[in-house]
Amino acid sequence: MRYWEGESTAVWERKWNVPYLEIHESLPSTNDRARELARERAIPFSVVIAEAQTAGKGRAGKRWDSPAGMGLWLSFLLTSRSQREPVLVPILAGLAVARAIEALCSGSEPKIKWPNDIELDGRKVAGILCEGEGTGTLVVGIGVNVRQAEEDFDRILQGRAISLEGAGYFVERGEFICALFSEVHRFLDPLPKFLDESLRREFECRDTLIGRMVSTDTGLQGRAMGISSDGALILEVDGILSAIRAGSVRVNSAQSKKQT
Ligand code: BTN
Repeated sequence: MRYWEGESTAVWERKWNVPYLEIHESLPSTNDRARELARERAIPFSVVIAEAQTAGKGRAGKRWDSPAGMGLWLSFLLTSRSQREPVLVPILAGLAVARAIEALCSGSEPKIKWPNDIELDGRKVAGILCEGEGTGTLVVGIGVNVRQAEEDFDRILQGRAISLEGAGYFVERGEFICALFSEVHRFLDPLPKFLDESLRREFECRDTLIGRMVSTDTGLQGRAMGISSDGALILEVDGILSAIRAGSVRVNSAQSKKQT
């Protein structure tokens, strides 16, 4: 598409401070298109947006519903120089999304569920899928539910997913991406080698798991204690600290947060 939300792609490129931008009416997945661009040696921070995705991908092989015009479905490229970055990038991208929501949705308090589900009012409003492409390039895919009403979500997601509008926040998508890329440049450009104390604090003040008993998808149960400098979730299991570096966790039912 040459025009989107009333402006040309050239104008959006400038406003978002990105070197290359493609906006499509529909794609199977913006991550797949971004991976193609990576193989064609596109430059870091090149961006792909689709109004609709026909095969949107979520984490752990799940599908990601991406109806036309209802959300922001976008991917961008990053250069990765070390083995550690693939763990840090989802955390940093999650922070960027949470801060963009805070910037545009006055009074909102988005939370981050490790590693990078973004929640509003306890429901998922945005998700991130990072994929490597060959050596040295990462694709960061971000999906933000913007306009869906409750009944627009798949039945299985009703009560668990929410859109910005559903939570009472009306945003211009172009402006949202402007805020998002300002945060993306702040957190991911250049990529830090580890999460220093101030980055860990940024995460932990939005961390929805901290102090709660959680279970990992491998069956480990423990209390969430925050994150380590390499982005791992720290669990206290029978008095011993364990670092969880992959997969996802769920909060055990019927328990409240420990007072800290
Ligand atoms: C999750 O499961 O939470 C991750 C969801 C990621 C969805 C986004 S939408 C844009 C990009 N393209 C995809 O196919 N997936 C990501």
